[in-house]
Amino acid sequence: AWAPDHILRIANATLAADCTERQSVTINGTSPGPTLRAREGEDSVWVRVFNDMEAENTTLHWHGISQYGSPFADGTPATSQWPIAPGNYFDYEFKLAAGSAGTYMYHTHVGFSVVTAYGAFIVEDSDAPPYDYDDERVVVLGDFYYKSDYNLSAGLLAAPFKWTNDPQALTVNGNAYGECDSEVKACQSGCHTEVVSVEPDRTYRIRVIGATALSFLYMALEDHPSFELIEVDGDYVNTHKASFLEVASGQRYSFLLRTKSLDELRALGKTRFWANLESRWRTTRSYGAWILEYNTTELPGDGADPYSTLPHLNKTIPLPDEAPFWVMNEVTPLDATQAPPDDSEVSRTIFVDGTQLNSGPSDAQKTFWQTHGYMYSEEMPATPYLIQAYQGGLTIDYDAAIANEGYDNTTHSLPVRAGEVVDIVFLNVASASGTLEAHPWHIHGKHPYVMAYGLGEFSEEAYAAARANMTAPIKRDTVMVYAGPEGMAYSNTTIPQGQVAGWTVFRLRADVPGAFMLHCHIQPHFTMGMGTVLLIGMEELPPLPEGFADQYMTYNATSQDVPAS
Ligand code: C2O
Ligand code: CU
Repeated sequence: AWAPDHILRIANATLAADCTERQSVTINGTSPGPTLRAREGEDSVWVRVFNDMEAENTTLHWHGISQYGSPFADGTPATSQWPIAPGNYFDYEFKLAAGSAGTYMYHTHVGFSVVTAYGAFIVEDSDAPPYDYDDERVVVLGDFYYKSDYNLSAGLLAAPFKWTNDPQALTVNGNAYGECDSEVKACQSGCHTEVVSVEPDRTYRIRVIGATALSFLYMALEDHPSFELIEVDGDYVNTHKASFLEVASGQRYSFLLRTKSLDELRALGKTRFWANLESRWRTTRSYGAWILEYNTTELPGDGADPYSTLPHLNKTIPLPDEAPFWVMNEVTPLDATQAPPDDSEVSRTIFVDGTQLNSGPSDAQKTFWQTHGYMYSEEMPATPYLIQAYQGGLTIDYDAAIANEGYDNTTHSLPVRAGEVVDIVFLNVASASGTLEAHPWHIHGKHPYVMAYGLGEFSEEAYAAARANMTAPIKRDTVMVYAGPEGMAYSNTTIPQGQVAGWTVFRLRADVPGAFMLHCHIQPHFTMGMGTVLLIGMEELPPLPEGFADQYMTYNATSQDVPAS
């Protein structure tokens, strides 16, 4: 290709998702930005990203896309590239491996701009998809805050720390219902609950994308008691009947929804149905919705109203309180030949703990999330890891790292040799404040296998027992690390600080050379330090594409004047 397939412009703009105006970061003027589509197995996708903001650096990350041969296109500051300074652009070019068809997203990777700077990225099948459906719809879930991106992040890093609180609205495809006190008509055209239109008697693939900054959401559909899950994080799975879905920040699902016939709609007396959204694992619940609307002139359009206040949704469709461990236990890969590397190949186990700690005198406490004793956001290198490596200036002492539980204390990273197979165990460690929450850990670069999860302390015996319960591991790039059933959050004071309340294991074959982040996808936690970097097979980095080195290795002077995060 001689011209980019897509051009994205990242800029500041005023949004009013729920009728309240907020200065936000947008992509091509909107939130979400445009839905990008590309086909698996094709040559490559080239996206030119302009930073049209006046004073903020940015990068764009292709969330969930495996970066075989193109680690420089992963889109993370301090890890894979120099930030894109205001007024500059960056060319992202990467391949979509065969077998990668599925639902992804893109989002900025600098600070809280992710609250609004995201969009859907759909990788289409090269042949007919393995499941039949007539059409598809995309449902992107987001959090809308009234505080600015800057204030959200500054509060978290302040001493004493100020929590972001729950979002003021949950958005769907950028929309949310909101009270408006001014001219009703103008208000109506601008803010309402998202309406997703369908035809009767059809099968739809509904793609759900967790683009929330914080919220972990449960979702269910009024009068549509079940649907069939077919895709998890970009991999097809055997159909699994479910009545509700849990979607954490960073996770994606597709399900098949058989729509009702005209007769069924007539019997129900309506054509618009609520889709409930309720948050979990917070002290308070956030509520949101979207509306499934049947596009038919045969029946009056009764039912859920996009301009009415949300009903007491928790009563419309009761959503269970327990964590639906079924996604981990019961869902199996569609490709029966897909299996994780054998136990005999695993060379070592790396523990990635996440602990919330406080420091300093109690009246000026900083609160942070620590991984292996450090806070990622304070240890980012001045020159991104991957740039250092391409400059020939990154030395990795594997022996020292292995002797230190896998962590290289010089680079604050987890180096893994090319071809090595490792088990990565995420530990959910009880916090200083005596609270527990569930964390969606996200890995960049590729999709590892989810081997097992458990509650309580991790041990080889617990791991073996949990694996015996799993039918066949699926691959994902964002996995929940629970701390028990949801009710344990915040109320539990019996688990002392430092004790492990839950764990999840990823098995990874290091066949995608590059520097890739591993972090909690809850943005407040990430900002507070909850992450680290995997340096995978850095001796076998692919060469930079022809003509790319100038843009990639050098950076515009202004990019150092503006902090990366
Ligand atoms: Cu969507 Cu590093 O994340
Ligand atoms: Cu977290």
